[in-house]
Amino acid sequence: MQSLTLTRPDDWHLHLRDGAALAAVLPDTARRFGRAIVMPNLKPPLTTVAQAAAYRGRILEALPPGSDFEPLMTLYLTDNMAPREIDAAKASGIVHAVKLYPAGATTNSDAGVADLARCRATLARMEALGLPLLVHGEVTDPSVDVFDREAVFVERVLAPLLKDFPGLKVVLEHVTTRDGADFVRESGANVAATLTAHHLLLNRNALFAGGIRPHHYCLPVLKRELHRQALLAAAVSGNPKFFLGTDSAPHAQKTKEAACGCAGCYTAHAGIELYAEAFAAAGALDRLEAFAAFHGPAFYGLPRNRGRITLVHEDWTVPAALPYVAGDALIPLRAGETVSWKLQAE
Ligand code: DOR
Ligand code: ZN
Repeated sequence: MQSLTLTRPDDWHLHLRDGAALAAVLPDTARRFGRAIVMPNLKPPLTTVAQAAAYRGRILEALPPGSDFEPLMTLYLTDNMAPREIDAAKASGIVHAVKLYPAGATTNSDAGVADLARCRATLARMEALGLPLLVHGEVTDPSVDVFDREAVFVERVLAPLLKDFPGLKVVLEHVTTRDGADFVRESGANVAATLTAHHLLLNRNALFAGGIRPHHYCLPVLKRELHRQALLAAAVSGNPKFFLGTDSAPHAQKTKEAACGCAGCYTAHAGIELYAEAFAAAGALDRLEAFAAFHGPAFYGLPRNRGRITLVHEDWTVPAALPYVAGDALIPLRAGETVSWKLQAE
């Protein structure tokens, strides 16, 4: 049987939530990944180093015994974040980035940035200290077509931002378009992107296959096939600007299967296996290790993980539902269907 041993990968974009939800999902990530960049869009959002440190403590407490998984914390940028919070973040050693959610763009983004011009002093401090800005790259202008919001963001917001702050480290998170991937490729070494497994495996037809599929709904929304192909080409290219970020985003079943369903795909249960499928389909399994375990640490200035994991080419069936918070289930990507790579138990 074909098997693949890799340096233990990291997840450079992850939602872990809090409380019972955190306890339910964290073991899936900790089994596969050495570290993860943990998103700060809790309710209320994490806007201070003190809040991020407390959340980090809750994550460590929720880890399975013996796990050496390391959460890498982020702060949630607001119009009012003081530049001194950036100094505190850098000095803390536990905060590795600041996340920009345009206000209203996605889940728990209401407190996000309404006017980026008000963040100039804070962004200048990040540029000076080398603290990366992680970007949810979608405009919120309701007159812009939902499938165009990333491309318009690149043109209207990201390009001007990098003109003003040419040395700012920026990660275009969960890039979903050819336009976004091209922009990253053509920018300096300070600009990178994460890619999700679901955007490498699915195009927007998956939202409407035989009926509306709420568990394929995430933001930025799945795009047409030409974009999926461009993303896959970027992922397998070996270019160090592109690295793994699952954007695994759990929501209770009843909040997804609703008249106004939440955005987010839960993928942590197969967080590396789904990428193996995508890379195998592209004939590029030999490129998976660098994408999953080398490019991210290089961008963030961190050492590579020392451990290893092994994947075997073997079908397994994803459970139809996973336990989540009291009284509600979590529907994982591929629920009830097979994944063709399996993580070998340690
Ligand atoms: O689909 C998404 N879900 N996109 C985001 O940007 C946020 C995330 C979440 O927190 O649920
Ligand atoms: Zn996310």
